[in-house]
Parts: sequence; structure tokens; C-alpha cells
Amino acid sequence: MTALGQPLELRGVTLPHRIAMSPMCQYSAGPDGLPTDWHLAHLGARAVGGAGLVITEASAVLPEGRISPRDAGIWSPAHVDAWRPVTAFVAAQGAVPAIQLAHAGFKASTYWPFAQERGGVPDADGGWQPVAPGTEPFVPAYRTPRALDEAGIHAVIAAFAQAAVYAVDAGFRAVEIHAAHGYLLHEFYSPLTNHRTDGWGGDRAGRTRLAVAVATAVRDAVGPDVPVLARVSATDWTDGGWDVTDTVALARELVTAGVDLIDCSSGGVVPQADIPVGPGYQAPLAEQVRRDAGVLTGAVGLITEPEQAERIVADGQADLVLIGRELLRDPYWPRRALAKLGGQPHWPDQYA
Ligand code: FNR
Repeated sequence: MTALGQPLELRGVTLPHRIAMSPMCQYSAGPDGLPTDWHLAHLGARAVGGAGLVITEASAVLPEGRISPRDAGIWSPAHVDAWRPVTAFVAAQGAVPAIQLAHAGFKASTYWPFAQERGGVPDADGGWQPVAPGTEPFVPAYRTPRALDEAGIHAVIAAFAQAAVYAVDAGFRAVEIHAAHGYLLHEFYSPLTNHRTDGWGGDRAGRTRLAVAVATAVRDAVGPDVPVLARVSATDWTDGGWDVTDTVALARELVTAGVDLIDCSSGGVVPQADIPVGPGYQAPLAEQVRRDAGVLTGAVGLITEPEQAERIVADGQADLVLIGRELLRDPYWPRRALAKLGGQPHWPDQYA
């Protein structure tokens, strides 16, 4: 059997193989962050296509944590009801439904990519003031955030925990904490965006405290059997920024807090960075974190070929391969990839 085709056991859940659908915002939720038929069709199609783990888009744990007014969320019982048909359909295809729990921090309240407008959404158009470690906007065109105070930070931690409870109730069998891409948790751990002088800033231990507290709270909320993944930006690709050595240290702490796999992405906390984008460009980050921290990792970013994905797992760079845009182009990529590598993926009866 191929390395890519091997099952992966994470606590009480077994992924059928190592190919996951990477979380991708669809900007297609209802006004209150409720998933719609689009989410059922979009995520359902990737489950039919054979992804072993289907991760939803960044789903906000609080309304003000949405990137745009069109983002999905999971902050109320109504969200639980709305997600249930999605998880039921995904699970019925043999895939494991997972949700990415997110808070956008200073990148909240922006126009979605296919809107006519750009930048921050004003109150008059359904926007809101974001929150962040400080009061600097991401870029001048975004809204100026309010710095979270002690009570606000504890409310964020509690919201992640409550969202995790809602997620399990909704039928998700795994959760991923979004701690990457310049969103709230990353804004706290990056020295480029956290200039706080209280216990939530300062040295690495202070800056990573929020991410670790969220991981601890989410683990407590879901109990011992539900896998918890964490997506991190393994480097800011900027001098003086967060780097992979920091990520190794954070990965160890997250795993101690109850995280099972570190999904290694990168960048996003500053608008300008020197990112060496190319095929599999983030896989070496997953490899270094896996080796130096001794944790399970996921690799993501321009992984488009079956042989490439196979090598990443076979060579020990990562335990899971997450596919983004290639799965938008071809929902059946997982089945095709496993077949091309010599496996015999089971097609749904309807298509067999
Ligand atoms: C993304 N990405 C992303 N990442 C994340 O952690 N949460 C999210 O909600 C989103 N949303 C999103 C939307 C769209 C349309 C794209 C294309 C990407 C990043 C994505 O998960 C992935 O990490 C990157 O796209 C790189 O992988 P690929 O696309 O090269 O396989």
C-alpha cells in the first residue's frame, strides 16, 4: 500500500487515508454566519470525491471574528442545526467531517474577494470594529481594531471552547484551531503584531499564551476522543518575525495542551513578506516541525500531484497532506490520486 493510502488514527477517529481537504472560505454564508446549501454541495462534493478529512472553511467562534460578513460561523444553537445536514452527508460518504474554528482578529470585517468593494466594511454596510492585540490595522484600508482587554481575551477563549462543543453537537468528528494567516491567535504570537506589555505579550511564552489557552480550552470542551488539529503559520517569512524555531516550541506546547496534529502553513500577519512560493513550498516547514518537535504534522500549499503527495508522506515530511485549490478544480482528486498510485479507491455506488 502507498504511504498516502494508509489510514491515520487520531484519538477515537481513523482517517481512511492521508488526503484532507484544506479549509477554504466560500463567502457564501447567510447574514448570521449560517452555512447554506452552498456549503452542503461544496463540502459534500469533496467527500464524494474521496477526501478522507473534509475541513470546513474558517468558521467564526464569535460574530466579530468573521473575516467578512459572508463568512460561516459556529456561535449559537442555530449554527448547530444548520451544520448538521453537512456533517451527516460528509460522514455518509466515508469522510471525516471537521470544522476550522476561527477568529479573524484585525482582519475581520473586510469585503469578500468577489465583492465590488475592497478593504474594511463600514458599519453602514454591515461591518463592525475588529479586535486585536493592539490598535494598529493590518493595512490602512482595513478597519482600525480595538485592543482586547483581559475580559475580552477570556471571552475569546470561552468562545472557542463553546464553539467546539457546538461543533461536536453538530456532528463534526474533528476540529481544527485556526492559529495562522495573520488572524487573531497568530497576531498574538507574532512579535510583528503583538506589542502588549501585559501577560499576553512580551516574550514568546507571553505571546503564545492565547493560542495555548485556546488549545487547552478546546481539548477540555471536546473530551478525550475528538481529534484537535491546529493550523499555524510556521514562519512570518520576515526578519524579526515568527520563525520555524518558534513554531517547534509552540508545537510542543500545543501538543501538551491536547492538540494531535500541527497543520503547517505560513505567512499572513504582515502584508509584505518574501515568500518562496513554489510546488510544496511549505512541506519543509512541516518536516522540520515534525522532526524537531516530535509531533504529527500536516503539509499544505501547492501540492497538486499524486506522486508529490505520496513522497511527502513516504519521506516523513508530514503525516497528512492538505489539498486546497486543486480540490476546487477537481473534487475527485483524492480518488484519482489514490488510483494513480496503484490503489483501488471505492467509488460511491452511484458512480461505480
Ligand atoms: C484558503 N485558505 C484558507 N486557509 C485556512 O486556514 N482557512 C480558510 O478559511 C482558508 N480560506 C481559503 C479560501 C480560498 C478560496 C483559498 C484558495 C485558500 C488557504 C488554503 O487552506 C491553503 O492553505 C492554500 O490555498 C494553499 O494550499 P493549495 O491551495 O496550494 O493546495
